[in-house]
Formats: sequence, C-alpha cells, structure tokens
Amino acid sequence: MKWNESYATGNKEVDEQHKMLFLTSDRFRETLEYGFGEKTYDLFLQFLSAYAEQHFAFEEECMFIHSCPSAKQNKEEHCLFLKVIQKEVAIFEKIGFEKQRAFALLDKVDKWLGSHIARIDVQLKTVLT
Ligand SMILES: [Fe+2]
Ligand SMILES: [Fe+2]
Repeated sequence: MKWNESYATGNKEVDEQHKMLFLTSDRFRETLEYGFGEKTYDLFLQFLSAYAEQHFAFEEECMFIHSCPSAKQNKEEHCLFLKVIQKEVAIFEKIGFEKQRAFALLDKVDKWLGSHIARIDVQLKTVLT
C-alpha cells in the first residue's frame, strides 16, 4: 500500500507515522513473497502492535486536544484493531507460522489502514486547517 495525499491529516507527525505503517506492511509482504516470512513474522507482529499502540496514543491525544469530531470513533476503531493484532499474536504463539494466515493478516491490516485513515484520521484536517 502506498501513502498518497488523500490520506493527509494536516498533522505532519501523524502522516509520517501512517507512512511508516504502510511501509512496514509493504516490506513484510515482500518478505513473505520471497519466502522468508517464517523468520520474520514474530518481529512483524511485535513491531506492528508496538508501533500501532504508540501511533494510536499520539493521534488520540492530537484529536482530543483539537476537539476533532471523529475522536471517539477513532479511539473505538483503534481498540478493535489492537484486538485483532493481539488475537493474531495469541494464535501465532499457539500454532506457529502459517503463510496463508500471514497473508490474510496483511490484507486485513492494509484494508483497515486504508479505510480507517481515509474515513476517520483525515477528519483531523477539519480542525487543523
Ligand atoms: Fe486513527
Ligand atoms: Fe492513524
């Protein structure tokens, strides 16, 4: 997935963090396609959950400070996303790496990021500009 201007939120830091999430997802997809997914899946899951958590906290604070209209829904969707990742971590710890599961998670992450940022995060623009 590639970041483009339709994802711009008006906050440079938030945009940089989104770009990083897109980049991480893309890099891991390449890794999976090259057949090295098993060696790196645990790192990907760790990074994704830690980075998403930090990004969500930063963005929620930003929306709260500026009384963004999507602040509440933003928080709720973040919470659901973290649960999806946590569930995946628990499954991975139980059954180990499965290529199809890893691809399915990546598709889910990409779809979620695109939809969430375009509907919810971009509303920051309305209060920042
Ligand atoms: Fe968000
Ligand atoms: Fe975000």
